[in-house]
Amino acid sequence: MTRTGPELDSGAFWKRIIASTLEEGIPEKWQESTFEGRSPLAASFLEQLPAGARVLDFGSGIGRNALALARRGHSVTVCDVADEGVQFSLEKAREEELAVAAAEFDGWTVELPDAAVDGILAWSCLDHVTLEWATELAAELSRVARSGALLLVSFDEDKSDDPDSDCELLDDGTHHYTSGRRAGMLFRPYSNDEIKGLFAEEWELLEFEGDDVSVPRRGLFRRT
Ligand SMILES: C[S@@+](CC[C@H](N)C(=O)[O-])C[C@H]1O[C@@H](n2cnc3c(N)ncnc32)[C@H](O)[C@@H]1O
Repeated sequence: MTRTGPELDSGAFWKRIIASTLEEGIPEKWQESTFEGRSPLAASFLEQLPAGARVLDFGSGIGRNALALARRGHSVTVCDVADEGVQFSLEKAREEELAVAAAEFDGWTVELPDAAVDGILAWSCLDHVTLEWATELAAELSRVARSGALLLVSFDEDKSDDPDSDCELLDDGTHHYTSGRRAGMLFRPYSNDEIKGLFAEEWELLEFEGDDVSVPRRGLFRRT
């Protein structure tokens, strides 16, 4: 796939934002606000994961969710376009002696073998790429998940309006910010059917949460 300007911009945006977050120092509260208490689907995901599961935290940011999963005894792999966040996650995991490793990732392909994981968390990240890109990433997640693996995804509510940033609307409905604090960021508001459609072929939908695009939507799936 050819990478377009907005896609390249997006990687640079996340590297910049994560590096500056780390430089400014992360508020303790934010580190504590993991996905765990955010949704009944998170509770279902955690309950159904086997003990010591191999979990991929896809789009792991600075690793708050990965560390939380590792503290529960799971063996976690982080991957993100922003290596700064990955390195920070590994450092924190080392300090706590937690089982967290990183998979090489170029934005499209995760360096993991087929069927390598028992669970995947993709929390607030697939809505930060274009629809075509998200479709490719969904296929990549299907590839690395073993049959029976669980997938928990979270898509944010539509927060595309930002008075501080100019934005162009791409053909597929993705907002590409061109100025201000979001410069370079991609955000695509998803309908519920679009979210379900991304995983329709290789995953069974177990639970779904969120009525419409005004609230976060979460889906829990099982790999067929
Ligand atoms: C809103 S943050 C969420 C981070 C983390 N999941 C959390 O909940 O703390 C979005 C994350 O998606 C990552 N991201 C952006 N584009 C991505 C891509 N193509 N593949 C994987 N992750 C990506 C960003 O680098 C960033 O860490």
